[in-house]
Amino acid sequence: GAGPSFSDRIIVWQGSHGRHGLPWQATRDPYRVWLSEIMLQQTQVSTVLDYYPRFLAHFPDVAALAAAAENEVMALWSGLGYYSRARNLHRCAQEVVSRFGGQFPSSAELLQTLPGIGRSTAAAIAAFCFGERAAILDGNVKRVLARHLGMADDLSVAANERALWGKAQALLPTEHLQQSMPIYTQGLMDLGATVCTLRRPVCLLCPLSADCVATHEGEPERYPVKTRR
Ligand code: ADE
Repeated sequence: GAGPSFSDRIIVWQGSHGRHGLPWQATRDPYRVWLSEIMLQQTQVSTVLDYYPRFLAHFPDVAALAAAAENEVMALWSGLGYYSRARNLHRCAQEVVSRFGGQFPSSAELLQTLPGIGRSTAAAIAAFCFGERAAILDGNVKRVLARHLGMADDLSVAANERALWGKAQALLPTEHLQQSMPIYTQGLMDLGATVCTLRRPVCLLCPLSADCVATHEGEPERYPVKTRR
């Protein structure tokens, strides 16, 4: 007796309640999507909205960024913090030029081999730009999935995190839904950021609440479980 699937509910929710109209959502250029994902990793959207267009005006493509002096890159990053991101950004641009002829590779598997691009960021870029069926699992998404599944295991244990990656992969939209990956991926990120929040999640507004283990238990904030301290 199944209603709409997990992924269908995320996709419908994204259409009416997700974030829309952000500059990096108006492009499938991997350079622009990659830059936004790196900036958004540890920085809120409102701050990125200030830095992103300025950075692109100075470095309109990956070749321009690769050719820049490191101090120029650092100057444009100044204020965003986590400066290893900027150094990796520069190195990544140089590797895209030297290893891939200035074209970002089009699979999550190859994107992950570049500096500063981890498994989740590689999947996000591949989903947004190429529609690849690759699972993301950043901090927000870990929380959404841990709550929905009632995953009581400590995710700082590698085997438990690996199990959650498997669940994330199994929940992806099925292939017959063409080009659903960008919407699904953005929806999962936005649901975690705005509804399934760390403190005081708003389960009444969540499309996943009907079969969410954590909300049925009555204490969704218990997840994700941290046993080590
Ligand atoms: N955090 C990381 N990637 C993001 C994105 N594409 N939109 C909003 N927040 C994000």
